[in-house]
Amino acid sequence: MHFQTSPLQNAAGRHLLAQWCIGCLVALACTASFPPADAATVRKPVDQLPVVKELPDPFLLADGTRVKSPADWARRRLELIDLVLSYEYGALPPAVSNVKSTVLSSGPTTRPAELPGATETNVLLTMGPENKIALHMHLLIPAAPADKAPGSARFPVILRGDLGWKSVKPDIAAAVLQRGYILAEFDRTELAADKKDSREGGIYTAWPDYNGSVMSAWAWGYQRGVDYLLTRPDIEANHIAITGHSRGGKAVLLAGALDERIALTAPNGSGSGGAGAFRFQAPKSEAIENIVPRFPYWFEPHFADFIGHVDQLPFDQHSIKALVAPRAFLETSGLGDLWSNPEGSQQAYLAAREVFDFLGVRDQIGFAWRAGKHEHNLQDWTALLDFADWRFFGKQPARAFDTLAFPQSEKKFTWAKP
Ligand code: GCU
Repeated sequence: MHFQTSPLQNAAGRHLLAQWCIGCLVALACTASFPPADAATVRKPVDQLPVVKELPDPFLLADGTRVKSPADWARRRLELIDLVLSYEYGALPPAVSNVKSTVLSSGPTTRPAELPGATETNVLLTMGPENKIALHMHLLIPAAPADKAPGSARFPVILRGDLGWKSVKPDIAAAVLQRGYILAEFDRTELAADKKDSREGGIYTAWPDYNGSVMSAWAWGYQRGVDYLLTRPDIEANHIAITGHSRGGKAVLLAGALDERIALTAPNGSGSGGAGAFRFQAPKSEAIENIVPRFPYWFEPHFADFIGHVDQLPFDQHSIKALVAPRAFLETSGLGDLWSNPEGSQQAYLAAREVFDFLGVRDQIGFAWRAGKHEHNLQDWTALLDFADWRFFGKQPARAFDTLAFPQSEKKFTWAKP
């Protein structure tokens, strides 16, 4: 079983696949989990990597030239995908083309009670070799608008993978449905357990030798969720947003970076290994030396080599945000959540924004801060819905999404967009 392919040999194929997947309605055949890099080829030992103190220039191609055109950026993007998978998260599980769905229950929902006409569906998805992988999804679907014939309405969707921590609170579900979005939730830990050395979960049942990280397996789960959503007649295929909190937000960032069918990527409070720069650790934030020993299974094993050498990492988290461009990206965060490094997230946001700006889509990247701690609350969801309404439907938001929380924080890079 191949978990890895050589770095760029599939670049053209991946690009075509990605193009084809955009707007793909018959998604069961669509296997857009990008093949991971051949880590052994791409990864150099840390002592052979140059020291780069600032956030590395994402526009610098492997051949030493600098990106000059969007076509160059498309090439650089593939290089970055290979670097990110090889050094940080490891391989994604193999692509599958056999996602099958069985409706377990469907009917009117009383939750949220104040939304008459909303329905609820529970689905079992199976996939992989001998359909060994099972993933449950729960959907809350708004009532069809009065001017639509029954069965003809289509809705944008927000997909959340944190069902293992319980469903969202009723006020959040109500907010999502009131705005006319479907809320789809699954439990990413059905695929790979969130436990050190456990190798439990659907991925390991299907591929006992899978050697990527649990984070990559969770990102793969989001992609399979998208496969399924695209088979539903009631969704707007070009308006799929994904979100998740904390470790779930890290998985969201990776999934959105890789999968061009995802229109909006929205990690919340994702911090270290997510939206926060490793090279800029604000006081009390979680650094590489904190996260990797505690959660080694979230990362490629050699990522530990960067402990004490983080300035030799050939990219930083801003490059992963930049992989989402030109699609939409929003990060939400609590300013009191110091462990998740809000100031370092702002640094990575500013650096990633150079790429969005270069591609002429500066408004596609946003940052929404709030007071408060480590949670994914109604304020975060409201920001996400405002941003989605703006980027998907042109509804002017009442708020700005580029207001800096730390205007005095000195920029951690000297380069600028070409
Ligand atoms: C720990 C971990 C964080 C993670 C968080 C969470 O605090 O150190 O990296 O984001 O758990 O998932 O809630």
